[in-house]
Amino acid sequence: MISSYKKRTHTCGQLRTSHIGTTVTLTGWVDVRRDLGGVVFIDLRDRYGKTQVVFAPQHDQKAYEIAQSLRSEFVISVTGKVERRPAGTENPELPTGEIDVPGIELEILNKSETPPFPIEDSIEVSEEIRLKYRFLDLRRPSMQKNLLLRHRASQITRSYYDRNGFIEVETPVLMKSTPEGARDYLVPSRIHHGKFYALPQSPQTYKQILMVAGYDRYFQIVKCFRDEDLRADRQPEFTQIDVEMSFVDENDVLSMTEGLIVEMWRETLGVKLEAPFTRLTYKEAMERFGSDKPDMRFGLEIHDCSAAVAISAFRVFSETVAKGGIVAGFAVPGLANYTRNQLDVLTDFVKSLGAGGLIYLKHQADKVETSVDKFVKPEEAQAIAKALGTQPGDLGLLVSGTWKKALSILGTLRLEMVNRLNLSPENKWNFLWVTDFPLLEYSEEDKRFVAVHHPFTSPKPEDLAMLDTDPANVRARAYDLVLNGSEVAGGSIRIFDSELQSKMFGLLGIGPEEAKLKFGFMLDAFKYGAPPHGGIAYGLDRLIMLIADQKSIRDVIAFPKTSSAMSLMDDSPSAVDKKQLDELHIRIS
Ligand code: AMO
Repeated sequence: MISSYKKRTHTCGQLRTSHIGTTVTLTGWVDVRRDLGGVVFIDLRDRYGKTQVVFAPQHDQKAYEIAQSLRSEFVISVTGKVERRPAGTENPELPTGEIDVPGIELEILNKSETPPFPIEDSIEVSEEIRLKYRFLDLRRPSMQKNLLLRHRASQITRSYYDRNGFIEVETPVLMKSTPEGARDYLVPSRIHHGKFYALPQSPQTYKQILMVAGYDRYFQIVKCFRDEDLRADRQPEFTQIDVEMSFVDENDVLSMTEGLIVEMWRETLGVKLEAPFTRLTYKEAMERFGSDKPDMRFGLEIHDCSAAVAISAFRVFSETVAKGGIVAGFAVPGLANYTRNQLDVLTDFVKSLGAGGLIYLKHQADKVETSVDKFVKPEEAQAIAKALGTQPGDLGLLVSGTWKKALSILGTLRLEMVNRLNLSPENKWNFLWVTDFPLLEYSEEDKRFVAVHHPFTSPKPEDLAMLDTDPANVRARAYDLVLNGSEVAGGSIRIFDSELQSKMFGLLGIGPEEAKLKFGFMLDAFKYGAPPHGGIAYGLDRLIMLIADQKSIRDVIAFPKTSSAMSLMDDSPSAVDKKQLDELHIRIS
């Protein structure tokens, strides 16, 4: 056990030719050791970089002997005088590549077992192994870069909101369960038998209460918990930059948000973004891109062909339109020679998404062929081609169905074609806002309306009257920020009137008793002078993932969960002692 050792004078990424002649002490991990017989080379690594250290009897016999026992990932302290590397042995890849340190003192501070994978960027090892040995995985330079970037982004966020008069307030991690949206994580109470806290899905209710309490500009970098199915960009616990503001409308929230994004991109990537960002209404986003988070870096825009086929002899077309549905599609340039086989694969693809089938059109030099030529006259085929905007040589892909379903399928097919054709994006950073989402959505499963955003989102004032007559068509004062087809933030202007809030609960099938039980504190607060307010929350992990150009959110989180919500390093979730369960009055059945 080492009680005292020589502390470092410099980091392993610091030394340059200007340090030649200086006696230095470096500490770190043995990255690579090369024993050339008579001389031992070590690459010494810490999170700042690597420095080459040379041990030879002529520098120091004892240090040389100890160096022969060094292995990968041993922790050492080494002292020596910086020298210029002999001509021809410099390493231009390393910032410290022009110097090395002949070791005259060497202490082994700790040994290491042989790591299960090398500590370097390009490793061929499963993610399971990386997650199990996360302490080693996090030593790799690319992971350190990601965490450093994340740190930087958090600092930029804090500084930005502080400069703009926002205060960071912490909100509870143990709160009341108010399931609406995802499933809650529950925490049993020991003191109150049979009662549970929930971990917050977001601090939504608290930040609104803070507005009532007069803290008119709030932000927080905060953990949120949702027990939902996981994907590459979803974690059961994730981090939000959560923001709320009083006396604002949509434009105030959007421009404050754009300010942070512009600053973050400038400070982390040196990229100058143009604000304000493009805005699309939900309707426009769906009708042009088949998605509420459109990726506008690619063309292949969707066009409505309903008018061209309204009186078609092809019944699938005319009946769909008669029933209020839509026939729509998009042109794929230069693909008129797609083979039958390739088109069959696409047909199976849309069928797997729930489409009845795929109708295609080949715009040849002299005529327009369709897959339904038996039913469709040449003039009608021409009219569809015109609506889709195909040119000779292009392929047209069409789907029919209800508005939302047909457009969503086309949106997915559009991205599938982008992938298949390996299209290159027209620009690197495609930020846009989607606004005017529907307020409510009918859930076939629950046989009632559910909030598209959350129950506190305000309807648009001009749609208020429709709350009673046509709730499905009421638009919300909600907005999402989308980056390259990924939802990176979402928020809304809130209801701040307890009567309207009660009405909203009513529409959601939450009766007065239930509303009082679940959200009574909020309705109460709203009786005491709630200011008009609104806010937004960014998915910090997703933002960092996109800035760092990573495919998985797990690569920008120090200790993430797997897709089955496990932490492989500390093996959680795990069984607990019977005594713990007894104290909580819980029996596992
Ligand atoms: P919302 O539910 O849209 O809004 O969440 C805001 C943002 O958080 C990110 N996000 C996630 N990131 C990783 N893993 C997850 N499981 C996950 N779920 C969401 C997304 C999303 O845009 N309280 C409201 C905000 C508000 O109205 O102010 C809310 O939580 O990037």
